[in-house]
Amino acid sequence: MDIVLLCGSLRKQSYNRKLLNTIKEHAPSHWTFNEIAIERIPFYNADVEESHVPDVVKALKERMRHADGLIIVSPEYNNGMPAVIKNALDWAASPPQDSPLPKKPIALAGASPQGAGTVQAQTQLRQTLIAIDAYVMSGPKLLVGQVHKRVDIEDERITEEETVKRIKKYVRAFDEWITTFSE
Ligand code: FNR
Repeated sequence: MDIVLLCGSLRKQSYNRKLLNTIKEHAPSHWTFNEIAIERIPFYNADVEESHVPDVVKALKERMRHADGLIIVSPEYNNGMPAVIKNALDWAASPPQDSPLPKKPIALAGASPQGAGTVQAQTQLRQTLIAIDAYVMSGPKLLVGQVHKRVDIEDERITEEETVKRIKKYVRAFDEWITTFSE
């Protein structure tokens, strides 16, 4: 299965990057990954879209179109999703007749040093994804709170047993979620 990944944090020592690495590590062996570098996507502009869709946006849409599923791993900023994620989704969903997102299975994940582990960002993301007719996995939710206590800053991935257990359950559930919609 072709899984496209989006990471909402651009910083090198990102906890969400460590979470993404851990999801990859525990994923089913039949999954292959394709990460889209969203930081090079310009801000959405309907005039630009009308005159010349940037190559990076064309590539984003093509990769999403061919994907069996998408996983969005994102921090929460000011109780919402980061602008880079919203921007990528706005480009991908436009125009609606050329959007790769309707009926696309999508799973959300996020990590935060705060207790709620990005619940508000995920709620907002869910609202946006429902508006663009994606099939967002309802559960299990992967909200990793107090992440700084679960991973060492120099580690590339999370090894804490409880979080790994949740990640294994999450990837299994997403595998089933994708299969449900591909039948
Ligand atoms: C944050 N952070 C944060 N955390 C949270 O749980 N809820 C929030 O609303 C916010 N708001 C927020 C705004 C801004 C501008 C920043 C820079 C940070 C803290 C955030 O979770 C923390 O910095 C994470 O470490 C960011 O994720 P990465 O980069 O480690 O993946």
